[in-house]
Amino acid sequence: MKILLFGKSGQVGWELQRSLAPLGQVIALDCDSADGLCGDFTNRAGLAGTVRRVAPDVIVNAAAYTAVDKAESEPELARRINALAPGVLADEAQELDAWLVHYSSDYVFDGSGEKPWLETDATGPLSVYGKTKLDGELAVARCEKHLILRTSWVYAARGANFAKTMLRLAQERDQLKVISDQIGAPTGAELLADVTAHAVRTLQRRPQLAGVYHLAAGGETSWHAYARYVIQHARQAGRPIRVMPEAVEAIRTSAYPTPAQRPLNSRLDTGKLQVAFGLVMPDWQAGVERMLAEILG
Ligand SMILES: NC(=O)c1ccc[n+]([C@@H]2O[C@H](COP(=O)([O-])OP(=O)(O)OC[C@H]3O[C@@H](n4cnc5c(N)ncnc54)[C@H](OP(=O)(O)O)[C@@H]3O)[C@@H](O)[C@H]2O)c1
Repeated sequence: MKILLFGKSGQVGWELQRSLAPLGQVIALDCDSADGLCGDFTNRAGLAGTVRRVAPDVIVNAAAYTAVDKAESEPELARRINALAPGVLADEAQELDAWLVHYSSDYVFDGSGEKPWLETDATGPLSVYGKTKLDGELAVARCEKHLILRTSWVYAARGANFAKTMLRLAQERDQLKVISDQIGAPTGAELLADVTAHAVRTLQRRPQLAGVYHLAAGGETSWHAYARYVIQHARQAGRPIRVMPEAVEAIRTSAYPTPAQRPLNSRLDTGKLQVAFGLVMPDWQAGVERMLAEILG
């Protein structure tokens, strides 16, 4: 199997390089062009030419414009990267009869209510980022053989993430305030990559499974409880933490205005994915503990 991977240096792209490797030949690209191939999502002609030249069996797109607040002031760039470029991949994949795997987000929903979102629920993005991710889904679905995985609160040991920011702040400051009314499941890039590899294999035998799926770790938490969890672990690991977990103050989203509005309810129901692909989603704590073990040494 020949797999063309875009966004190889991102959180998920990095882990995909590992998890897809046993499936066949992986040609992995990032924004920089190499060997005459183009992975730059602002260059649609270059992307189309690259897909034609590589002629993959599967395209996996982990590239995205992910700066949620900045997208409010750069809507056109976010649209080019999150919606128009995936549309080019969809049209080229359709032409080749290849699979297109793409990631989307809980931000396609409006965050109302408290029930985990189903794939069939009405969308209603609150932000430019969410709108471009929804447009990207619609574009990717132009390719018959598509797999769209909506996920939430992604972290990885590599690069910046919420847990690392909390650890740094808890060592520098005497007080921390963290949002407690946004609920979701922190989901590891490792889990996303492993499930993707499993799904890609399964789809070769069962192409009827094409479609949209929710993929997130099990359970739920708030950013506030997540921060306390991380700080507690760091204390136990002997880190010089100044803020005690119980001293982390809970604040509401309304007390922390940001350019982009974020959904309060980011819960994703993963039942469809678990049944279709015969998987069980581990609780979010399992992956976060592994990531903490790695970054706390
Ligand atoms: N992060 C989250 O919390 C989250 C939540 C829900 C869904 N998702 C979705 O999950 C997927 C993977 O996200 P992630 O967390 O791995 O994101 P990430 O770490 O920000 O990685 C995104 C990658 O896209 C690349 N990229 C940006 N602009 C590009 C361009 N013009 N051309 C080619 N590549 C470009 C980035 O390269 P540079 O670093 O060089 O810019 C980076 O390697 C995305 O579809 C995202 O929307 C993420």
